[in-house]
Amino acid sequence: MKKIGIFYGTTSGITVGIVDEIEFYLRGLDYDVFDVADGITEMSNLENIILVSPTYGVGELQKDWENVYEEFKNIDFTGKIVGIVGVGNQFAFGESYVGAMRKLYDVVKKNGAKIVGYTSIEGYKYEETESVIDNMFIGLALDESNQDNETPDRIKAWIEEIKPLFN
Ligand SMILES: Cc1cc2nc3c(=O)[nH]c(=O)nc-3n(C[C@H](O)[C@H](O)[C@H](O)COP(=O)(O)O)c2cc1C
Repeated sequence: MKKIGIFYGTTSGITVGIVDEIEFYLRGLDYDVFDVADGITEMSNLENIILVSPTYGVGELQKDWENVYEEFKNIDFTGKIVGIVGVGNQFAFGESYVGAMRKLYDVVKKNGAKIVGYTSIEGYKYEETESVIDNMFIGLALDESNQDNETPDRIKAWIEEIKPLFN
């Protein structure tokens, strides 16, 4: 399997813990982790990509993702396999839960990626989100504020599902 690149942004640090857990379930595989605050230049060189963003504002990307969004939109994702992870709070921000996933999804889809790792909405309690299409989350939705006990199993199952789909 070719190298996997994990690209994440964080403001208050919760997503760092999520990335650690993702790394745990990728152990034994070749991967690199990139904080998008340091740029996304490596993204073009990788074929297997995991994108991770918490949601801020009302359904918006995290600030460091915002800063690279124009550059991100110019990447050709043809031939790339992409999985998306959203971190949010479905009770405090239940009308825009993990909305940032959609901002990432729309770009990679338009630019030719094969998107993997759609997940069931079962077990979540949000009111509204842009990140559900045809009754499925467009990636892995996590909520460390209210359902952190679910997170390890959710990550484990998601990684097991997408691992065989990578190039
Ligand atoms: C100002 C503010 C706005 C937020 N807006 C949303 C939102 O629209 N949807 C959502 O699911 N979570 C929202 N959240 C919750 C964060 O996404 C959540 O706390 C996340 O775990 C933060 O990750 P980080 O510590 O890696 O930055 C918001 C949090 C703050 C402080």
